[in-house]
Amino acid sequence: MRHLRRLVACGAALALGAGASAQSESGEAAPARVECASDAPCRVDLATFIGWRVFQAQCATCHGADARGSTFAPDLTQRMRGMTQRNFFAALDQGYFGPQSTMPPRGRDPNVAPYYDELWSFLRARATGALPPGPVERLPNPSAREP
Ligand code: HEC
Repeated sequence: MRHLRRLVACGAALALGAGASAQSESGEAAPARVECASDAPCRVDLATFIGWRVFQAQCATCHGADARGSTFAPDLTQRMRGMTQRNFFAALDQGYFGPQSTMPPRGRDPNVAPYYDELWSFLRARATGALPPGPVERLPNPSAREP
C-alpha cells in the first residue's frame, strides 16, 4: 500500500467515532466519513473506499468515474437524491429497464452483490455532496493501535 505510511502517521490526529460501516437497527448504513484536504485525495472510511473501488470496476464504464453519468447512463449524483437504500438495492438486484436504455441485473454477480452496502455508502456520499469528485484514499482504521 503506497499511502499506508502517511495514513498511519495521520492516525493520531483523528478523533473518530465508532465503526464506520456500522449498521443501525433499521438496516440503514451510517453516513460515510469523509475528510478532505486541498492538496490530496479525500480520505474515506473503509466501506466507502470499497464502494468507490467496486464502483470504478463495475459501474464507472456506464455511470462515469465520479458517478456523474455518461451519454447513455444517468448521473447518479442526481438520480440517487431521495432514493431509499431499499430502492437502490432493488435496482441493482433487478436491473433497470428504462425507456431508452437498460442496466443489467447484478443480484447474482459475485463482483457486485456482496458490496451493495459499500456502493450505497460511496454513492450517498457523492449524491449528498459530502464527497467531491475524484479518487479517494482510505482513512486509517480507528481501532488500529500504532506500535
Ligand atoms: C451497462 C451500463 C451500466 C452499468 C455497468 C451500470 N449501470 Fe446503472 N444504469 C444504467 C442505465 C442505462 C440506467 C438508467 C436507465 C434509464 O433510466 O433508462 C441505470 C440506472 C441506475 C440507477 C437508477 C435506478 C433507478 O431506479 O432510478 C442506479 C442506482 C444505478 N444505475 C446504479 C448502478 C451501480 C451501482 C452500478 C454498478 C454496480 C451500475 N449502475 C452499473 C447503466 C449501467
